[in-house]
Amino acid sequence: MFIRNAQTLLPSGELAIADVEIHQGTIARVGAGLAIDNLDEYQVIDGSGLILLPGVIDPQVHFREPGLEHKEDLFTSSCACVRGGVTSFLEMPNTRPLTTTQAALDDKLARAASKSLVNFGFFIGATKENLPDLRTASPTCGIKVFMGSMHGPLLVDDAESLDRIFYRDVTDSTYENRLIAVHAENHARILARREEFSGETDVAIHSEIQDNQAALEATQLALRLSKLYQRRLHILHLSTGDEANLLRIEKPAWVTAEVTPQHLLLNTDAYQTIGTLAQMNPPLRSPRDQDVLWQALLDGVIDFIATDHAPHTLEEKAKGYPNTPSGMPGVQTSLPLMLTQAAQGRCTVAQVSRWMSTAVANAYGIAKKGAIAPGYDADLVLVDLATYQPFRREDVLSKCGWSPFEGWNLTGYPQVTIVGGQVAYDHGTIDPAVRGKALQFGH
Ligand code: DOR
Repeated sequence: MFIRNAQTLLPSGELAIADVEIHQGTIARVGAGLAIDNLDEYQVIDGSGLILLPGVIDPQVHFREPGLEHKEDLFTSSCACVRGGVTSFLEMPNTRPLTTTQAALDDKLARAASKSLVNFGFFIGATKENLPDLRTASPTCGIKVFMGSMHGPLLVDDAESLDRIFYRDVTDSTYENRLIAVHAENHARILARREEFSGETDVAIHSEIQDNQAALEATQLALRLSKLYQRRLHILHLSTGDEANLLRIEKPAWVTAEVTPQHLLLNTDAYQTIGTLAQMNPPLRSPRDQDVLWQALLDGVIDFIATDHAPHTLEEKAKGYPNTPSGMPGVQTSLPLMLTQAAQGRCTVAQVSRWMSTAVANAYGIAKKGAIAPGYDADLVLVDLATYQPFRREDVLSKCGWSPFEGWNLTGYPQVTIVGGQVAYDHGTIDPAVRGKALQFGH
C-alpha cells in the first residue's frame, strides 16, 4: 500500500506532507516524495487534502459480548470503531459470563479474532475471590477493579480485598508488574446517598448521588494502596476537578489517568437536553470540573483519553430514573469530537493524537502502535479537517442506534481507516471482511 500526499503526523509532532509505504501490514518508509519503482503493484491511496494520523487506541470500552448482544456485539462495535478512526480497543470484563477467569478471556479473544474489524485486548475483572486467576491470566492488558458503582461479584469495595489485589508479591514478577485499572467511586457513600435521595426521579440527581466526594475518596484509596506497594495503577475515567487537583500534587511515576470526551465536553446541563442519555458512571460534572480536567489534560496530569463506550438500548434508557442503565456510546465520535476541539484552538492535532494513540500505547506497553514510523503497524486514519458536518443518528453504527452528540457540528471525520495495512473503512463504506489481531502487551 502507498499513501500519498497526506499531511502526515510525524513522531516529532510535526505535520508535514509525506508519503507512507506499507508492506504486509507494517510501515516500511515515511518521507516526502518517496520514489516507488513498480507503483502499479501497490494499492495507492490519495491523501491529498487530508491528515494522516496513527489509528486511535481506545483503552476503555464495553462491547457487551458475550451475553449482552442486544446492546452491542464485537462486529457492530468494531464497525463503529473503524468509522470513528479507532483501530484498537481494550475491553472491560462486565460481560456475561463475567471475564474473571482465563477461560472467559480466551473465549473473548476467540470471538474477537472471528468478528472484530480492529485490534483487541481484554481486561480480566477482579472479584473478592479470584486472586489466583488474576495472578495467572495472560494475555491481558490488566486487571479491572470496580471499587464502586457495580453490583455482583465484580464489586470490590472493601479495603481488605483491595489490599490483597494491590499487594506485590516480589516472588511473582508477572503479577507484580500487572496494571490495575480502577473505576474509582466509593460504593458505601453511593449507597447511603441513594437512600437519602430515594424517590427522586429526575435524572439530574444522579450527579448528586454519585457525587464528587464519592469519586475523590475512592481515588485517594487507590492512590494510597498504589503508593504503599508501588503498584502500577491506572485511574479510569477521571471525572472531577478534585481528583485532577489531587493528582497534580501527588502522582507517582507508575500512576496514569484517563478522561473521557464526554467528561470534557458535556456537563450536568446535558440532563435538561438529552435526559437519561446523559446518565453515566462516574456521572457528568459541573463546568468548573470540566475546566480543571481540560487543564490537567493539557498539563500532562491526565495522560490520555478513553471513551468508556457503554451502549444501552433506547428502550432501556427510556425506563425512567433510577431504573435506567448508566452509559453512552463513544467510539464513533471520540476522534471527530477531539479534532473539532483542536480545530477550534483548544489543543493541537498532535496533542489529540498523543492522548488517543501514542500515550495509550506507551502506558499499556502495546508494541509497534501509536506512531507513523518505519517498523510500526499500519493502523492509520485519514481525517478531513476542512469540512464541518452535523453528527446524525442515521450514521450511528453501534447497535444501540443513538449518540449523546447527535446534532453536534463536527470536523475531523475519518475518510479512510486502515487496520494492519487493510482498508477497513473508505468514504462511507466498511469492508466487513477485515479482521484485527490480538494486541501484544509488555514493555
Ligand atoms: O456508565 C457506565 N456504564 N460506567 C461504567 O463503569 C459501566 C458502564 C456499563 O457497562 O454500562
